[in-house]
Amino acid sequence: MKLAVLTSGGDSPGMNAAIRAVVRQGIADGHQVFGYVEGYRGLTDDEEIELNSQAVSEIIDRGGTILRTSRFPEFREEKVQKKAISNLRKKGIKGLIVIGGEGSMKGAHALAALNFKTIGVPASIDNDVFGTDFAIGFDTALNTVIDVLGKLRDTASSHERIFVVEVMGRHSGSIALNAGLAGGADYICLPDTPVTEPRRLNHIFKLVKERYKRGKTHTLIIVAEGAGPSFKISEAIEAATGREVRLTILGHIQRGGSPTAMDRLLASRLGALAIKMAGRGESDFMVGSSGGNITAIPLIEVSTNKAVVSPDLYELANILA
Ligand code: F6P
Repeated sequence: MKLAVLTSGGDSPGMNAAIRAVVRQGIADGHQVFGYVEGYRGLTDDEEIELNSQAVSEIIDRGGTILRTSRFPEFREEKVQKKAISNLRKKGIKGLIVIGGEGSMKGAHALAALNFKTIGVPASIDNDVFGTDFAIGFDTALNTVIDVLGKLRDTASSHERIFVVEVMGRHSGSIALNAGLAGGADYICLPDTPVTEPRRLNHIFKLVKERYKRGKTHTLIIVAEGAGPSFKISEAIEAATGREVRLTILGHIQRGGSPTAMDRLLASRLGALAIKMAGRGESDFMVGSSGGNITAIPLIEVSTNKAVVSPDLYELANILA
């Protein structure tokens, strides 16, 4: 059977390991696998390449995506989706695997709803895809952030400074919360509660002053991108406490790098299951992980629900800070 794969939205480390699993499991099952370049943009413009086993060699440890990716908001339009389906049908392709984040899963569901067999694979450093405990790339991004936090703590305590560290997550607090907890941050600002709110800022001022009274030599505050603007938070803390504050915006370094073992394992297992399902003619599902097991959940549920960060985890991070 002819099957295809694409990567869409923001790239995440481990996308290549997922492509490799799709291709190699597909070939093992007797399928011919094609890759569309630059996500839904390439699918719409009919830009595809055949992927043999050799094409995916030596990519398991590479960040980014060999198929490249794009943000392609035009794909929300039904006429664009229909054009993509007609390209797939013309080539005799019977099923598509979409590797990407929340928005990409919506696109995958739209294709399935228009009767083109589609399976989603969650990949996003933000870990904001409903229906899976972990999306591919999240673990690598967390490890990047905690590595940086350790380095910043060294310089922060040497200078008795406060550091505000902005991490990615326009709408998601997953990186901020999990890296904050794992990296021992002293305070975490999530997107759901605007930090510039006076009550919240006052809480931070109080926390910083108390820490210095207790003899602490530094304070590390993590701010999710969507909770900012982080420069305003830094300025406000400096003005209220009279202490030196430095702001570090981690930005896109969180999206790059070689995937961790956890991400490679997840990507390999999810990619392989996705192509097996596509080969069996299944559609409108996203593969994912739940409680350590690999699962499949209907894409309609993924598209209509929002992943939320755990309030218990937030409470724990505050207790341990
Ligand atoms: O892919 C998710 C993400 O990294 C968000 O955390 C961030 O807000 C956004 O992508 C940045 O997107 P872009 O690279 O398109 O500017």
